[in-house]
Amino acid sequence: MRVLGIESSCDETGLAIYDSNDGVLAEVLHSQSDLHARYGGVVPELASRDHVRRILPLLHQLLGKAHLDIGDIDAVAYTAGPGLVGALLVGASFARALAYARDIPALAVHHMEGHLLVSLLNEPAPSFPFVALLVSGGHTMLLRADGVGDYQVLGNSCDDAAGEAFDKVAKLLGLTYPGGAALAAMAERGNHCAVALPRPMTLPKGGLNFSFSGLKTCVAQTVRDMKGGDGTLADTDRADIAASFQEAVVDTIVYKCLRALDSTGLSQLVIAGGVAANTRLRTVLTQKMRDIGAQVFCPPQSLCTDNGLMIAYAGWLRWHASEQHPKSGGAETISVYPRWSMETLGV
Ligand code: KG4
Ligand code: ZN
Repeated sequence: MRVLGIESSCDETGLAIYDSNDGVLAEVLHSQSDLHARYGGVVPELASRDHVRRILPLLHQLLGKAHLDIGDIDAVAYTAGPGLVGALLVGASFARALAYARDIPALAVHHMEGHLLVSLLNEPAPSFPFVALLVSGGHTMLLRADGVGDYQVLGNSCDDAAGEAFDKVAKLLGLTYPGGAALAAMAERGNHCAVALPRPMTLPKGGLNFSFSGLKTCVAQTVRDMKGGDGTLADTDRADIAASFQEAVVDTIVYKCLRALDSTGLSQLVIAGGVAANTRLRTVLTQKMRDIGAQVFCPPQSLCTDNGLMIAYAGWLRWHASEQHPKSGGAETISVYPRWSMETLGV
């Protein structure tokens, strides 16, 4: 079976085709980061309009790359939430119209489940049950995963998500949106012990929830204090702040992951979402997991950030797991879920 996946929940239009026999056939991605950079963040209306402009040419490009015709596609999976409502509606309308016209199933996929399940494509793959750390621009979550659609949320972010904190601190350091990867690159030149920063909610009573907004405020204060008389920061100071901030986030996340493994008694940890591309996080987590005899599974960095393959693959797994093959009947109703709990998914 060949599943076309369409991701359009935020500022990336990503399409891919997954074949249940032959694996990944082709992928295409358009990032809107240049479009939003001058505004310092995603402008929802511009995001929706750009998805409209890109989606059809991207589909043609994808089919060309895979040497396929639209008639060779057996189902269309699309991101139905969470995300920006207008951006989601572009992908959902396009996918459902296509499924209706071709009389094939349309499969609604939860964006964060896509991030999580794409890790199963990798070798070695984790096996259920495992703990999953989902860290993106909009979410920071720890879950217990017992099967496709069977998730228990162990911890969530109380305020800024980890990626959001990376982006806001990057902005304080003069980097353009989205600054997470650029901040990580800058941190490589800095000393992570240079600035003392808190590891939020790491006392025992902090449980498994996360809070990064206080940490971001500490960095804002530090930036103010370290600025010279001319109101600028020296390059070495910027690198030191970047490294110290990254280390504080990494330490905090690692601490919570260890606690989640301990409280569930599980020994496999899957990390996913844009921040899971962070090299320092991957390195420290791998070391710590080895120390306690646990295993960490990190998808390749290109599959951590938003992409169409995660939606195609999650769509296939859900379709396969549900046994009842949903037909495109009902495609007249186009629903998206800007907020959507992973605990309600089922199969
Ligand atoms: O999963 P994703 O592509 O989109 C959402 O679902 O939000 O994650 C994007 C987030 C952004 O905040 C971006 O700055 C962050 O992931 N990010 C990183 C790195 N690469 C992307 N953060 C830290 N280090 C990185 N290398
Ligand atoms: Zn994402």
